[in-house]
Amino acid sequence: MPLNFLKRSFLPLTWPCAILRDSVDFMSYLALARKYRPRTFDEVVGQEPIIVTLRNSLERRRVHHAYLFAGMRGVGKTTTARLLAKALNCAKGPTANPCNECVSCVEVQSGSSMDIMEIDGASSGGIDQIRELREIVRYTPFRDRNKVIIIDEVHMVTTPAFNALLKTLEEPPPYIVFIFATTDYRKVPATILSRCQQYYFRPLTIPTIVQHLRSICVKEGVTVSERSLHQVAHLAAGSSRDSISLLDQLIAYCGMTIKYEDLSVILNIIAVEVHERIARALAAGDGGAILKEIGQMVESGYDLINFLHDFESYLRQLLVVKVTKDPVKILDAYEEDLRTLTEVAALFGEEADLLRYLQFLMQVDASLRYVHNPRHLIEAGFLKMCQFRLLVPIADAYRAIEQAAKKQGRS
Ligand SMILES: Nc1ncnc2c1ncn2[C@@H]1O[C@H](COP(=O)(O)OP(=O)(O)OP(=O)(O)O)[C@@H](O)[C@H]1O
Ligand SMILES: [Mg+2]
Ligand SMILES: [Zn+2]
Repeated sequence: MPLNFLKRSFLPLTWPCAILRDSVDFMSYLALARKYRPRTFDEVVGQEPIIVTLRNSLERRRVHHAYLFAGMRGVGKTTTARLLAKALNCAKGPTANPCNECVSCVEVQSGSSMDIMEIDGASSGGIDQIRELREIVRYTPFRDRNKVIIIDEVHMVTTPAFNALLKTLEEPPPYIVFIFATTDYRKVPATILSRCQQYYFRPLTIPTIVQHLRSICVKEGVTVSERSLHQVAHLAAGSSRDSISLLDQLIAYCGMTIKYEDLSVILNIIAVEVHERIARALAAGDGGAILKEIGQMVESGYDLINFLHDFESYLRQLLVVKVTKDPVKILDAYEEDLRTLTEVAALFGEEADLLRYLQFLMQVDASLRYVHNPRHLIEAGFLKMCQFRLLVPIADAYRAIEQAAKKQGRS
Protein backbone atom coordinates (compact mmCIF):
# COMPACT_ATOMS: atom_id res chain seq x y z
CA MET A 1 0.00 0.00 0.00
CA PRO A 2 1.35 3.45 -0.80
CA LEU A 3 1.09 4.56 2.78
CA ASN A 4 2.84 7.34 4.53
CA PHE A 5 3.91 5.37 7.54
CA LEU A 6 5.43 8.24 9.45
CA LYS A 7 2.45 10.53 9.07
CA ARG A 8 0.20 7.76 10.33
CA SER A 9 2.09 6.80 13.37
CA PHE A 10 1.06 9.81 15.42
CA LEU A 11 -0.77 8.49 18.40
CA PRO A 12 -4.49 9.22 18.62
CA LEU A 13 -4.95 11.64 21.50
CA THR A 14 -7.36 9.49 23.45
CA TRP A 15 -4.89 6.98 24.75
CA PRO A 16 -1.31 8.21 24.87
CA CYS A 17 -1.04 8.93 28.58
CA ALA A 18 -1.32 5.36 29.81
CA ILE A 19 1.10 4.11 27.21
CA LEU A 20 3.64 6.78 27.86
CA ARG A 21 3.41 6.11 31.59
CA ASP A 22 3.96 2.39 31.02
CA SER A 23 6.80 2.86 28.64
CA VAL A 24 8.47 5.41 30.87
CA ASP A 25 10.05 2.46 32.58
CA PHE A 26 12.41 3.12 29.73
CA MET A 27 15.95 2.94 30.95
CA SER A 28 16.00 -0.83 30.56
CA TYR A 29 13.88 -0.79 27.44
CA LEU A 30 15.41 -1.28 24.02
CA ALA A 31 13.27 -0.70 20.91
CA LEU A 32 12.45 -4.03 19.31
CA ALA A 33 14.05 -3.03 16.00
CA ARG A 34 17.35 -2.55 17.86
CA LYS A 35 16.92 -5.53 20.13
CA TYR A 36 16.45 -7.77 17.10
CA ARG A 37 19.19 -6.36 14.91
CA PRO A 38 20.71 -9.52 13.39
CA ARG A 39 23.90 -10.65 15.12
CA THR A 40 24.83 -13.18 12.45
CA PHE A 41 24.48 -13.37 8.66
CA ASP A 42 21.89 -16.13 9.08
CA GLU A 43 19.56 -13.80 10.92
CA VAL A 44 19.35 -11.32 8.04
CA VAL A 45 16.12 -12.09 6.20
CA GLY A 46 15.09 -11.53 2.61
CA GLN A 47 18.53 -10.63 1.25
CA GLU A 48 19.82 -14.11 0.46
CA PRO A 49 21.85 -13.37 -2.73
CA ILE A 50 23.77 -10.60 -0.96
CA ILE A 51 24.40 -12.61 2.17
CA VAL A 52 25.54 -15.68 0.20
CA THR A 53 27.94 -13.57 -1.88
CA LEU A 54 29.43 -11.87 1.18
CA ARG A 55 29.80 -15.15 3.03
CA ASN A 56 31.50 -16.75 0.03
CA SER A 57 33.89 -13.86 -0.41
CA LEU A 58 34.81 -14.08 3.28
CA GLU A 59 35.40 -17.82 3.07
CA ARG A 60 37.43 -17.50 -0.13
CA ARG A 61 39.35 -14.51 1.23
CA ARG A 62 38.22 -12.39 -1.69
CA VAL A 63 36.89 -9.39 0.20
CA HIS A 64 36.80 -6.26 -1.93
CA HIS A 65 38.08 -2.94 -0.57
CA ALA A 66 34.92 -0.94 -1.31
CA TYR A 67 31.25 -1.85 -1.18
CA LEU A 68 28.09 0.07 -1.91
CA PHE A 69 24.92 -1.09 -0.15
CA ALA A 70 21.86 0.49 -1.74
CA GLY A 71 18.18 0.08 -0.95
CA MET A 72 15.17 1.60 0.76
CA ARG A 73 15.02 2.42 4.48
CA GLY A 74 15.17 -0.38 7.02
CA VAL A 75 16.07 -3.36 4.83
CA GLY A 76 19.40 -4.32 6.38
CA LYS A 77 22.12 -2.10 4.91
CA THR A 78 23.67 -0.81 8.13
CA THR A 79 23.10 -4.20 9.76
CA THR A 80 24.97 -6.02 6.98
CA ALA A 81 27.74 -3.42 6.96
CA ARG A 82 28.31 -4.02 10.68
CA LEU A 83 28.16 -7.77 10.19
CA LEU A 84 30.78 -7.60 7.47
CA ALA A 85 32.96 -5.46 9.72
CA LYS A 86 32.50 -7.96 12.52
CA ALA A 87 33.32 -10.88 10.22
CA LEU A 88 36.50 -9.18 9.03
CA ASN A 89 37.79 -8.33 12.48
CA CYS A 90 36.64 -11.30 14.57
CA ALA A 91 39.59 -12.74 16.51
CA LYS A 92 38.75 -16.12 14.97
CA GLY A 93 38.43 -14.70 11.49
CA PRO A 94 38.13 -13.37 8.95
CA THR A 95 35.16 -15.65 8.98
CA ALA A 96 31.61 -15.92 7.64
CA ASN A 97 30.59 -16.97 11.15
CA PRO A 98 31.94 -14.40 13.61
CA CYS A 99 32.07 -15.72 17.15
CA ASN A 100 30.15 -12.87 18.81
CA GLU A 101 32.31 -13.44 21.89
CA CYS A 102 35.74 -12.00 21.25
CA VAL A 103 36.50 -8.41 22.26
CA SER A 104 36.32 -7.25 18.68
CA CYS A 105 32.90 -8.85 18.03
CA VAL A 106 31.48 -7.48 21.27
CA GLU A 107 32.79 -4.00 20.51
CA VAL A 108 31.42 -3.99 16.97
CA GLN A 109 28.07 -5.15 18.31
CA SER A 110 27.93 -2.33 20.82
CA GLY A 111 29.29 0.23 18.35
CA SER A 112 32.43 0.99 20.35
CA SER A 113 35.15 -0.55 18.20
CA MET A 114 38.01 1.85 17.50
CA ASP A 115 38.68 0.19 14.16
CA ILE A 116 35.16 0.53 12.81
CA MET A 117 34.22 4.08 11.91
CA GLU A 118 30.62 4.96 11.18
CA ILE A 119 30.26 8.30 9.45
CA ASP A 120 27.03 10.03 8.57
CA GLY A 121 27.35 11.32 5.03
CA ALA A 122 24.59 13.87 5.58
CA SER A 123 26.25 15.70 8.46
CA SER A 124 29.91 14.81 7.90
CA GLY A 125 30.16 14.65 4.13
CA GLY A 126 31.91 17.96 3.55
CA ILE A 127 35.34 18.36 1.97
CA ASP A 128 37.06 19.04 5.32
CA GLN A 129 35.75 15.90 6.96
CA ILE A 130 36.66 13.77 3.95
CA ARG A 131 40.21 15.23 3.98
CA GLU A 132 40.41 14.26 7.63
CA LEU A 133 39.21 10.80 6.73
CA ARG A 134 41.99 10.49 4.14
CA GLU A 135 44.48 11.13 6.93
CA ILE A 136 42.88 8.56 9.24
CA VAL A 137 43.01 5.97 6.47
CA ARG A 138 46.79 6.23 6.39
CA TYR A 139 47.19 4.88 9.92
CA THR A 140 47.04 1.15 10.53
CA PRO A 141 44.23 -0.31 12.69
CA PHE A 142 44.54 0.14 16.48
CA ARG A 143 44.16 -3.47 17.33
CA ASP A 144 42.25 -5.48 14.74
CA ARG A 145 42.98 -6.79 11.28
CA ASN A 146 41.05 -4.21 9.31
CA LYS A 147 39.91 -0.65 9.56
CA VAL A 148 36.35 -0.55 8.27
CA ILE A 149 34.87 2.78 7.27
CA ILE A 150 31.11 2.82 6.95
CA ILE A 151 29.64 5.95 5.36
CA ASP A 152 25.86 6.06 5.76
CA GLU A 153 23.67 8.11 3.43
CA VAL A 154 26.70 8.44 1.17
CA HIS A 155 24.67 10.21 -1.53
CA MET A 156 24.70 13.28 0.74
CA VAL A 157 28.48 13.62 0.50
CA THR A 158 29.34 16.78 -1.48
CA THR A 159 30.86 16.60 -4.96
CA PRO A 160 34.25 18.10 -3.96
CA ALA A 161 34.38 15.62 -1.06
CA PHE A 162 33.67 12.72 -3.40
CA ASN A 163 36.43 13.92 -5.69
CA ALA A 164 38.83 14.12 -2.77
CA LEU A 165 38.02 10.50 -1.97
CA LEU A 166 38.46 9.01 -5.45
CA LYS A 167 42.17 8.25 -5.27
CA THR A 168 41.99 6.70 -1.80
CA LEU A 169 39.00 4.67 -2.85
CA GLU A 170 40.78 3.26 -5.87
CA GLU A 171 43.93 2.18 -4.09
CA PRO A 172 43.45 2.19 -0.34
CA PRO A 173 45.99 0.67 2.06
CA PRO A 174 45.49 -3.11 2.31
CA TYR A 175 43.84 -3.03 5.74
CA ILE A 176 41.08 -0.58 4.68
CA VAL A 177 37.53 -1.60 3.72
CA PHE A 178 34.99 1.04 2.74
CA ILE A 179 31.28 0.31 3.01
CA PHE A 180 28.92 2.94 1.67
CA ALA A 181 25.21 2.77 2.38
CA THR A 182 22.58 4.78 0.57
CA THR A 183 18.85 5.00 0.05
CA ASP A 184 19.40 6.85 -3.22
CA TYR A 185 22.23 5.37 -5.27
CA ARG A 186 21.26 7.42 -8.33
CA LYS A 187 22.75 10.44 -6.59
CA VAL A 188 26.10 8.72 -6.07
CA PRO A 189 28.56 9.78 -8.84
CA ALA A 190 29.42 7.11 -11.40
CA THR A 191 33.12 7.56 -10.56
CA ILE A 192 32.41 6.32 -7.01
CA LEU A 193 30.02 3.57 -8.11
CA SER A 194 32.53 2.09 -10.51
CA ARG A 195 35.11 1.73 -7.74
CA CYS A 196 32.72 -0.26 -5.53
CA GLN A 197 31.14 -3.67 -5.54
CA GLN A 198 27.47 -2.81 -5.62
CA TYR A 199 24.74 -4.63 -3.73
CA TYR A 200 21.08 -3.77 -4.07
CA PHE A 201 19.01 -4.63 -1.03
CA ARG A 202 15.46 -5.58 -1.94
CA PRO A 203 12.33 -4.36 -0.21
CA LEU A 204 11.12 -7.29 1.89
CA THR A 205 8.06 -9.20 0.68
CA ILE A 206 4.90 -9.45 2.77
CA PRO A 207 5.41 -13.16 3.58
CA THR A 208 9.01 -12.50 4.65
CA ILE A 209 7.98 -9.64 6.93
CA VAL A 210 5.08 -11.65 8.39
CA GLN A 211 7.39 -14.57 9.15
CA HIS A 212 9.99 -12.29 10.73
CA LEU A 213 7.40 -10.52 12.88
CA ARG A 214 5.95 -13.86 13.89
CA SER A 215 9.35 -15.06 15.12
CA ILE A 216 9.81 -11.86 17.15
CA CYS A 217 6.32 -12.25 18.66
CA VAL A 218 7.11 -15.82 19.67
CA LYS A 219 10.32 -14.70 21.38
CA GLU A 220 8.52 -11.83 23.12
CA GLY A 221 5.54 -13.99 24.12
CA VAL A 222 3.09 -11.82 22.20
CA THR A 223 -0.17 -13.30 20.91
CA VAL A 224 -1.21 -11.86 17.58
CA SER A 225 -3.28 -13.11 14.65
CA GLU A 226 -1.89 -13.81 11.20
CA ARG A 227 -4.28 -11.22 9.78
CA SER A 228 -2.89 -8.47 12.04
CA LEU A 229 0.67 -9.31 11.02
CA HIS A 230 -0.41 -9.16 7.39
CA GLN A 231 -1.84 -5.71 7.94
CA VAL A 232 1.34 -4.51 9.65
CA ALA A 233 3.46 -5.94 6.83
CA HIS A 234 1.36 -4.08 4.26
CA LEU A 235 1.80 -0.83 6.14
CA ALA A 236 5.55 -1.28 6.39
CA ALA A 237 5.71 -1.36 2.57
CA GLY A 238 8.87 -3.45 2.37
CA SER A 239 10.78 -2.05 5.32
CA SER A 240 11.69 -4.46 8.09
CA ARG A 241 12.45 -1.64 10.53
CA ASP A 242 9.07 -0.01 9.91
CA SER A 243 7.28 -3.30 10.46
CA ILE A 244 9.07 -3.93 13.77
CA SER A 245 8.46 -0.35 14.94
CA LEU A 246 4.76 -0.75 14.20
CA LEU A 247 4.73 -3.98 16.17
CA ASP A 248 6.44 -2.17 19.04
CA GLN A 249 3.73 0.48 18.95
CA LEU A 250 1.01 -2.15 19.01
CA ILE A 251 2.57 -3.92 21.99
CA ALA A 252 2.79 -0.58 23.82
CA TYR A 253 -0.97 -0.20 23.53
CA CYS A 254 -2.30 -3.74 23.61
CA GLY A 255 0.20 -5.46 25.86
CA MET A 256 0.89 -9.11 25.13
CA THR A 257 -2.33 -9.78 23.21
CA ILE A 258 -2.88 -7.81 20.05
CA LYS A 259 -6.40 -7.79 18.64
CA TYR A 260 -7.09 -7.06 14.99
CA GLU A 261 -9.78 -4.53 15.94
CA ASP A 262 -7.19 -2.44 17.83
CA LEU A 263 -5.03 -1.98 14.74
CA SER A 264 -7.16 0.67 13.08
CA VAL A 265 -7.19 2.77 16.27
CA ILE A 266 -3.51 2.54 17.06
CA LEU A 267 -2.09 2.80 13.59
CA ASN A 268 -4.68 5.33 12.48
CA ILE A 269 -5.68 3.22 9.51
CA ILE A 270 -9.12 2.88 8.10
CA ALA A 271 -10.49 -0.60 8.61
CA VAL A 272 -10.84 -2.64 5.43
CA GLU A 273 -14.56 -2.98 6.20
CA VAL A 274 -15.00 0.77 5.63
CA HIS A 275 -13.42 0.49 2.18
CA GLU A 276 -15.64 -2.45 1.48
CA ARG A 277 -18.80 -0.54 2.45
CA ILE A 278 -17.77 2.44 0.32
CA ALA A 279 -17.00 0.21 -2.67
CA ARG A 280 -20.40 -1.45 -2.36
CA ALA A 281 -22.10 1.97 -2.17
CA LEU A 282 -20.12 3.08 -5.20
CA ALA A 283 -21.26 0.07 -7.20
CA ALA A 284 -24.85 0.79 -6.19
CA GLY A 285 -24.50 4.54 -6.91
CA ASP A 286 -25.46 5.38 -3.32
CA GLY A 287 -23.80 8.78 -2.83
CA GLY A 288 -25.59 9.39 0.48
CA ALA A 289 -24.04 6.31 2.07
CA ILE A 290 -20.59 7.39 0.95
CA LEU A 291 -20.99 10.89 2.39
CA LYS A 292 -22.06 9.32 5.68
CA GLU A 293 -18.93 7.17 5.78
CA ILE A 294 -16.72 10.16 4.99
CA GLY A 295 -18.44 12.15 7.73
CA GLN A 296 -17.75 9.38 10.26
CA MET A 297 -14.10 9.24 9.27
CA VAL A 298 -13.75 12.99 9.78
CA GLU A 299 -15.46 12.72 13.16
CA SER A 300 -13.09 9.92 14.22
CA GLY A 301 -10.13 12.06 13.27
CA TYR A 302 -8.91 10.12 10.24
CA ASP A 303 -6.91 11.91 7.60
CA LEU A 304 -9.03 11.94 4.44
CA ILE A 305 -6.00 12.16 2.17
CA ASN A 306 -4.69 8.93 3.66
CA PHE A 307 -8.13 7.46 3.15
CA LEU A 308 -8.03 8.44 -0.51
CA HIS A 309 -4.66 6.73 -0.97
CA ASP A 310 -5.90 3.63 0.77
CA PHE A 311 -9.05 3.53 -1.28
CA GLU A 312 -6.94 3.74 -4.43
CA SER A 313 -5.11 0.66 -3.19
CA TYR A 314 -8.40 -1.02 -2.45
CA LEU A 315 -9.65 -0.34 -6.00
CA ARG A 316 -6.40 -1.69 -7.36
CA GLN A 317 -6.95 -4.85 -5.36
CA LEU A 318 -10.46 -5.17 -6.82
CA LEU A 319 -9.01 -4.69 -10.29
CA VAL A 320 -6.35 -7.34 -9.75
CA VAL A 321 -8.97 -9.76 -8.49
CA LYS A 322 -11.04 -9.06 -11.59
CA VAL A 323 -8.30 -9.42 -14.21
CA THR A 324 -6.22 -12.30 -12.87
CA LYS A 325 -7.05 -15.88 -12.11
CA ASP A 326 -4.43 -16.14 -9.40
CA PRO A 327 -4.46 -12.82 -7.50
CA VAL A 328 -2.87 -14.28 -4.36
CA LYS A 329 0.68 -13.83 -5.64
CA ILE A 330 0.18 -10.25 -6.80
CA LEU A 331 -1.78 -9.04 -3.81
CA ASP A 332 -0.33 -11.00 -0.93
CA ALA A 333 -3.75 -10.49 0.62
CA TYR A 334 -4.96 -12.40 3.59
CA GLU A 335 -7.22 -15.30 2.53
CA GLU A 336 -10.33 -14.05 4.28
CA ASP A 337 -9.91 -10.60 2.76
CA LEU A 338 -9.41 -12.12 -0.67
CA ARG A 339 -12.80 -13.82 -0.51
CA THR A 340 -14.55 -10.53 0.26
CA LEU A 341 -12.54 -8.74 -2.43
CA THR A 342 -13.79 -11.26 -5.02
CA GLU A 343 -17.35 -10.71 -3.86
CA VAL A 344 -17.09 -6.91 -4.06
CA ALA A 345 -15.26 -6.99 -7.41
CA ALA A 346 -18.19 -8.94 -8.85
CA LEU A 347 -20.46 -5.95 -8.12
CA PHE A 348 -18.58 -3.93 -10.72
CA GLY A 349 -19.57 -5.06 -14.20
CA GLU A 350 -16.49 -4.77 -16.36
CA GLU A 351 -12.80 -4.35 -15.70
CA ALA A 352 -13.08 -1.05 -17.64
CA ASP A 353 -15.47 0.29 -14.99
CA LEU A 354 -12.98 -0.26 -12.19
CA LEU A 355 -10.23 1.24 -14.32
CA ARG A 356 -12.34 4.35 -14.83
CA TYR A 357 -12.89 4.72 -11.08
CA LEU A 358 -9.21 4.23 -10.35
CA GLN A 359 -8.07 6.70 -12.98
CA PHE A 360 -10.56 9.29 -11.82
CA LEU A 361 -9.50 8.87 -8.22
CA MET A 362 -5.88 9.46 -9.22
CA GLN A 363 -6.93 12.70 -10.88
CA VAL A 364 -8.71 13.75 -7.69
CA ASP A 365 -5.56 12.87 -5.79
CA ALA A 366 -3.42 14.99 -8.11
CA SER A 367 -5.80 17.96 -7.75
CA LEU A 368 -5.75 17.87 -3.96
CA ARG A 369 -2.86 20.26 -3.71
CA TYR A 370 -4.88 23.00 -5.41
CA VAL A 371 -7.82 22.98 -3.01
CA HIS A 372 -8.36 24.57 0.34
CA ASN A 373 -10.45 21.81 1.87
CA PRO A 374 -9.67 18.27 0.69
CA ARG A 375 -12.96 17.00 2.08
CA HIS A 376 -14.95 19.00 -0.48
CA LEU A 377 -12.97 17.68 -3.41
CA ILE A 378 -13.05 14.10 -2.16
CA GLU A 379 -16.81 14.19 -1.56
CA ALA A 380 -17.44 15.76 -4.97
CA GLY A 381 -15.18 13.15 -6.55
CA PHE A 382 -17.07 10.26 -5.00
CA LEU A 383 -20.45 11.75 -5.95
CA LYS A 384 -19.25 12.09 -9.50
CA MET A 385 -18.06 8.48 -9.51
CA CYS A 386 -21.52 7.42 -8.38
CA GLN A 387 -22.77 8.66 -11.73
CA PHE A 388 -20.26 6.62 -13.71
CA ARG A 389 -22.56 3.63 -13.67
CA LEU A 390 -25.04 5.63 -15.75
CA LEU A 391 -22.43 6.15 -18.46
CA VAL A 392 -22.87 4.14 -21.63
CA PRO A 393 -19.83 2.70 -23.42
CA ILE A 394 -19.02 4.79 -26.47
CA ALA A 395 -19.47 1.84 -28.86
CA ASP A 396 -23.00 1.27 -27.53
CA ALA A 397 -23.83 4.96 -27.82
CA TYR A 398 -22.53 5.01 -31.39
CA ARG A 399 -24.55 1.94 -32.27
CA ALA A 400 -27.70 3.51 -30.78
CA ILE A 401 -27.18 6.68 -32.81
CA GLU A 402 -26.64 4.63 -35.95
CA GLN A 403 -29.80 2.65 -35.37
CA ALA A 404 -31.80 5.80 -34.68
CA ALA A 405 -30.48 7.34 -37.89
CA LYS A 406 -31.38 4.23 -39.88
CA LYS A 407 -34.89 4.27 -38.46
CA GLN A 408 -35.30 7.92 -39.40
CA GLY A 409 -34.04 7.19 -42.90
CA ARG A 410 -36.66 4.51 -43.28
CA SER A 411 -39.55 6.63 -42.09
N1 LIG B 1 16.98 -7.88 6.26
C1 LIG B 1 16.70 -7.76 7.56
N2 LIG B 1 16.60 -8.87 8.35
C2 LIG B 1 16.29 -8.76 9.64
N3 LIG B 1 16.09 -7.59 10.28
C3 LIG B 1 16.17 -6.47 9.56
C4 LIG B 1 16.49 -6.49 8.16
N4 LIG B 1 16.52 -5.24 7.71
C5 LIG B 1 16.24 -4.45 8.75
N5 LIG B 1 16.03 -5.18 9.87
C6 LIG B 1 15.62 -4.63 11.17
O1 LIG B 1 15.55 -3.21 11.03
C7 LIG B 1 16.51 -2.56 11.83
C8 LIG B 1 17.19 -1.50 11.02
O2 LIG B 1 17.91 -2.07 9.96
P1 LIG B 1 19.15 -1.34 9.26
O3 LIG B 1 19.71 -0.31 10.19
O4 LIG B 1 20.07 -2.37 8.75
O5 LIG B 1 18.40 -0.62 8.07
P2 LIG B 1 19.03 0.23 6.90
O6 LIG B 1 18.80 -0.54 5.62
O7 LIG B 1 20.41 0.65 7.21
O8 LIG B 1 18.02 1.48 6.89
P3 LIG B 1 18.31 3.06 6.71
O9 LIG B 1 18.46 3.28 5.22
O10 LIG B 1 17.05 3.70 7.20
O11 LIG B 1 19.53 3.41 7.48
C9 LIG B 1 17.46 -3.64 12.31
O12 LIG B 1 17.90 -3.36 13.60
C10 LIG B 1 16.60 -4.89 12.27
O13 LIG B 1 15.87 -5.02 13.48
MG1 LIG C 1 21.22 2.47 7.88
ZN1 LIG D 1 34.64 -12.76 17.30
